[in-house]
Amino acid sequence: MTLSAPELVTAFTNRFGREPAGVWSAPGRVNLIGEHTDYNDGFVLPFAINRSTSVAAAPRRDRTTQVHSAFNGGSTVSASLDDLQAGSIQGWAAYPLGVLWAFEDHGARVPGVDLYLDSDVPVGAGLSSSAALECAVAVMANELSDAGLTGPELAALGQRAENLMVGAPTGIMDQSASLLGEEGHAVFLDCRTREAQLVPLDLAGNGLTLLVIDTKVSHEHSTGGYAARRTSCERGAEAMGVAALRDLSLADLPAAAGILDEETFRRVRHIVTENDRVLAAVDVLRGQGPAGLGALLNESHASMRDDFEISCPELDLAVDTALSAGALGARMTGGGFGGSAIALVNSDDADAVTAAVTVAFAAAGYAAPAVFTVLPAAGAGRVQG
Ligand code: GLA
Repeated sequence: MTLSAPELVTAFTNRFGREPAGVWSAPGRVNLIGEHTDYNDGFVLPFAINRSTSVAAAPRRDRTTQVHSAFNGGSTVSASLDDLQAGSIQGWAAYPLGVLWAFEDHGARVPGVDLYLDSDVPVGAGLSSSAALECAVAVMANELSDAGLTGPELAALGQRAENLMVGAPTGIMDQSASLLGEEGHAVFLDCRTREAQLVPLDLAGNGLTLLVIDTKVSHEHSTGGYAARRTSCERGAEAMGVAALRDLSLADLPAAAGILDEETFRRVRHIVTENDRVLAAVDVLRGQGPAGLGALLNESHASMRDDFEISCPELDLAVDTALSAGALGARMTGGGFGGSAIALVNSDDADAVTAAVTVAFAAAGYAAPAVFTVLPAAGAGRVQG
């Protein structure tokens, strides 16, 4: 956190002239494997990371909500809950206000609130700063409104806010990771049944480090490529006569090649093989442990680069350089078209991989990447008050 929970309480009190009722926090996420499979009813294996968004909040007597963000240049947005409608708020405030709108749309009555936010999840880096913000507000609103919703129900409200208030046609993975994560574990989620299982992910105990390489190439999922991929998947499922691409297996691919156009086939092949890799990764984690994940991570990246075409030169350079410098496996993570790659490395090699990537980016004339370590952390909840 940029501001600690006690500092956030002080900042809230200075801004609003009274004390907050509490501080709630929700983490960003790294997706270990299972990319673009969530909206295809498939499998994902993300984990909540030790970077989060926190919100100090106090209910008001009226229906006004004021949201102050310390991390967006210190701006404040004010709105009446009665005026909120799908798509009515633009910019960063669409995430917190969208969640309050989704609560009320779901039938819960939320009080007007004063909110003070801060975050250390980098924006646009593919680490789900948006889900962290949504989920921090969701756990806060759940408590202040006594709605009593479960983690999966809160995840669905966060996704609804993102789909209908922000206008990004994203799936359920990010909010699920942020709400259901546990320290030292990944979240294996079946996005059709919404059944979640925690899978041990003990990196340090295995002498491993997971590096995030933020390429600083910013992406947005409310525009362009993400929605186009989703449409291709839906078209592919329809042509194959299934409800979702989850319903296809590797054995269906030869038939799909004869039915689908070349591009749609490659999109479909990515989803089908990626679902298979998620299941394999869960088996590896439960058996051999995380050191055995390398090949699956590499295959996932190749599939996203060649079949799904959501990588970019900076992500490919990050992955290739990390592997040349000794990483056990590497892949882009998140929605793609920029953002971050992850590299699984023996902890002794972390500095060498970091240095190699930094040098390679400079040599290519790219902006300097940010390379840092993440750990599987606990999901969203109240942290003070
Ligand atoms: C973004 C979306 C998720 C998921 C990933 C790709 O993070 O928010 O729902 O689709 O992209 O796996």
